[in-house]
Amino acid sequence: MSSSRISRRHVLRAFAAAAAATAVSRATGDHAQPKPDVCANGSVFDQPLALPGRDGWMGYCDAGAPLMLRAAAQPGGRVPLAFVATRDGRTWRNPTLTADAGASVRIALSNAIDAPTIIHWHGLAVDTRNDGNGETVAAPGASYDYAFTVRNRAAMYWYHPHPHGMTAGQAQRGLFGLWFINDDEERALARALDAVPGATELPLVLHDRRAAARDRYAPSPADLVHGYFGDEMLVNGTFRPYHDAAARGYRLRIVNAANARTFLLAFRRDDGSLMPFTLLGTDGGLLARPVPCREVFVASAERVDLWVDFSALAIGDFVVLESLAFDPMHMEASAGAAASGAASGGHDHQHNHGGDAAAATIADGARLSLLQFRIRERAARSPAPPASLSRLPAAVAPAGDARPLRLGFAKGRWRINDRVYDMAETPIVVARNTVETWLLRNYHTSMPHAMHLHGFAFRVLARETSPPFLAPLAVDERGRLATDLGVKDTVLVWPGESVRIAIDFACPFPGEQIYMLHCHNLEHEDGGMMLRVKVA
Ligand code: C2O
Ligand code: CU
Ligand code: CU
Repeated sequence: MSSSRISRRHVLRAFAAAAAATAVSRATGDHAQPKPDVCANGSVFDQPLALPGRDGWMGYCDAGAPLMLRAAAQPGGRVPLAFVATRDGRTWRNPTLTADAGASVRIALSNAIDAPTIIHWHGLAVDTRNDGNGETVAAPGASYDYAFTVRNRAAMYWYHPHPHGMTAGQAQRGLFGLWFINDDEERALARALDAVPGATELPLVLHDRRAAARDRYAPSPADLVHGYFGDEMLVNGTFRPYHDAAARGYRLRIVNAANARTFLLAFRRDDGSLMPFTLLGTDGGLLARPVPCREVFVASAERVDLWVDFSALAIGDFVVLESLAFDPMHMEASAGAAASGAASGGHDHQHNHGGDAAAATIADGARLSLLQFRIRERAARSPAPPASLSRLPAAVAPAGDARPLRLGFAKGRWRINDRVYDMAETPIVVARNTVETWLLRNYHTSMPHAMHLHGFAFRVLARETSPPFLAPLAVDERGRLATDLGVKDTVLVWPGESVRIAIDFACPFPGEQIYMLHCHNLEHEDGGMMLRVKVA
């Protein structure tokens, strides 16, 4: 693509933003004007939000019956790559899998793309053979069979490719899907909330892409250091989405499936004020009780389960799911030569690194309008979350010393304890059926890292030396955020911060098992910010 076309598009974009801003100020100043369907940063919501039905794009699909997922190119599709499933005359693209806790699952991956791939079931407690950690892959044309029992509690998990060094490119092009596990606590809550999947309970997959490279993944050297940031935001694969809603409460199950971007989610009303919401659950399921929130950070791979109540709104009102502006703390620039050496000339703090292709990327931490809810009808009743959601016990610190894990950048690579991933080395060995404390410490001259452990959920015990802007979001004297109160498999660690987590290595699988600990900024993961963990 020539640079003249880029700059022309840039100019058009600037005009569109200015026009939208004018429309907004006119509308807020004059109530006789119809409310425009535009949001504060200039995008027009003109596409109905795609939602899962009984098949098709993201359709709900019972994973309790055998299934084949074919990874395949999707010319002209919503996303350039997708998992396609066919069963009993129905076809799904990136099916939303459903299963009950305890179910046995048999899924075959068939690789119809032109590169090796493998599926990792993010958040599921399975053995190494079924984990898809990337050390075994399916070559183009080959397949891989998974067979396991669902041992997790109810939550929204997800699945995505994990071939080492190629994960970012495959996931960025759309190869991922959701997985809902159900159990009795979940069913009781769904009844209480009248939460009907696809209707009053909406799964929302947040993702970004580059307009100039929608079907290509072409990171610059700087992108490999910071992560791949797009210039278009997608929800469920829908660009500029709106959703017609009733004046009642909605349950939203949200995953950040962007390679590198962190969202600070909040709901904004027409009058510019933020609408509080209720956090019900996190990565690994329901909290013990609901927690009121105004804004919540969601890093790559993290999930939030929340309740937002539109019942006080009038027909014709709008509410926008936004990502609020925040300091993205890309402090690695101050590390000087280290980062800029790898980033071929360093970067500015607008994160417009990488030349033409990245010229229009939206910086991490920029304010974004993600999804517009249009209140279109009254509701017969609007339930509210019960006082108690689950029997989740409080997190307890295990006895014994914490295992330190230092996150930082050196010699052109992001590292954990100064190491990068090497299939021949196992830096962490854990005795099965023990509980350990891990202390994830991020250097000051770093950027935020979304640390994920395969196979085992964990609990956050404390956040220490957090950046000052987290203080108003802390819910206890240990510096924890609302999202830290639940079961986690991914946790964001800010520069200068230490996060203390407790991991129960209860392991029912015989023999040594290998799991991955890595940053879920997918460019960092592919770049080797990952270590093998052996459970012996
Ligand atoms: Cu979703 Cu190894 O990660
Ligand atoms: Cu940066
Ligand atoms: Cu990272």
